[in-house]
Amino acid sequence: MEKFIVKGGNRLEGEVSISGAKNAVVGLIPATVLAGDTCIIENLPHIADVLHLSEILNNMGIKSEFIDKHTLKVESGMKPHSDPQYDLVNKIRASYYFIGALLAKYKRAEVALPGGCNFGGRPIDQHIKGFEALGAKVVIEHGVVKASADKLIGANIYMDVVSVGATINVMLAATMAEGTTVIENAAREPHVVDVANFLNSIGANIKGAGTDEIKIEGVSELGGSTYAAIPDQIEAGTYMVAAAMTEGDVTIKNVIPKHLESITSKLREMGVSVEEAGDSVRVYGERPYKAINVKTLPYPGFPTDMQPQMLTLLSTAEGNSIVRESVFDNRFQYLTELIRFGANVSAEGKVAVVNGTTDLTGAEVKCTDLRGGVSMILMGLNSKGETKVSDIRHVDRGYENIVSKLRGLGADITRIEE
Ligand code: EPZ
Repeated sequence: MEKFIVKGGNRLEGEVSISGAKNAVVGLIPATVLAGDTCIIENLPHIADVLHLSEILNNMGIKSEFIDKHTLKVESGMKPHSDPQYDLVNKIRASYYFIGALLAKYKRAEVALPGGCNFGGRPIDQHIKGFEALGAKVVIEHGVVKASADKLIGANIYMDVVSVGATINVMLAATMAEGTTVIENAAREPHVVDVANFLNSIGANIKGAGTDEIKIEGVSELGGSTYAAIPDQIEAGTYMVAAAMTEGDVTIKNVIPKHLESITSKLREMGVSVEEAGDSVRVYGERPYKAINVKTLPYPGFPTDMQPQMLTLLSTAEGNSIVRESVFDNRFQYLTELIRFGANVSAEGKVAVVNGTTDLTGAEVKCTDLRGGVSMILMGLNSKGETKVSDIRHVDRGYENIVSKLRGLGADITRIEE
């Protein structure tokens, strides 16, 4: 089994370049099913989720091949001969985007219920509500979502919960429906905008993505296009925290500073310096850092995908912090591992109390999920001695070349086979 070995104490310095956004590309790749002609998706992060989605396309009979590590060519004009393969779909949550795309183009979809990180219940009731509002019949049999429609008619859909997945999935399903669809209380994340921009690049007519009201005029046919994914705001935020964690000085390149605003402002509140410049941010700082309170919210609020990384930094600040996780029911599972370093944290439901300390020592820990997992590395960078991280497949799902990127900044981290 592969593990990371991290030796703490090195200051991170220098430059690191951010890859394409995981949560954008896991929507872009299924969205290519909708296209009528060849699509080329650029700036893909070379991560497990991307490889799985390409494999799902090929297994369906839609030819997809990597032109290079970061570019995927999809022969979208090919009609799939089968549904997404159950055992592959089970590996990643974003497979559910194939439902919206297949339903839109072929008026039917049979896709297994999603897998992915487990933060308590992760229902898809809002996805189904949207599909049904468009006229589809949706049933769940033997763990498979079966959706079908004679035709899809535009509708007004109010999301009871701000949901990235439901917003993207319903947007996909509405792209070729007859008439106008309005999604109200829509998610505003940058990756929602990225998928909308891709759909428009192949001929869709979508307005308002990035606001809480998205209007989709159904079109009858779509072409192909070459489209580059946005940079990953969460990968960028993770390296911002890594810089602060090691009291280093790191310039993070290929970012969109606006997407990082909430992360930047919370780091500054802690006394970390963040300087924005065009498509990069420079992060540097030295302890003691100020304890602050954080509440995760849908974009443009503080992202839930940065909650573990931020809490990990706060566990080394001076004083007590409160971290409220308002998006997911149970996203503090990683705390049991964080405590092994000597961190003084505890959680009750959706609220964690952090009592900062700098007296931290390396430990043997495991990844409970993607962001909790990367936080084990962050803590190891700042703990005395050696940290051994297992179950690192979680980290490989969302971070391209994390060992070489961190080593490039001076971290002492290696991947071993044990
Ligand atoms: C996406 O998950 C991301 N995953 C998550 O990133 C991210 O944490 C999340 O959005 C929030 O930003 C991908 O994009 C692949 P939601 P998603 O639907 O779409 C509830 C990472 O680390 N809800 O916005 O599944 C849900 O339970 C991953 O990169 C319903 O109740 O999240 C949650 O409490 C982790 N019914 C809240 O809404 C629904 O039908 C937000 O979930 C859908 C969601």
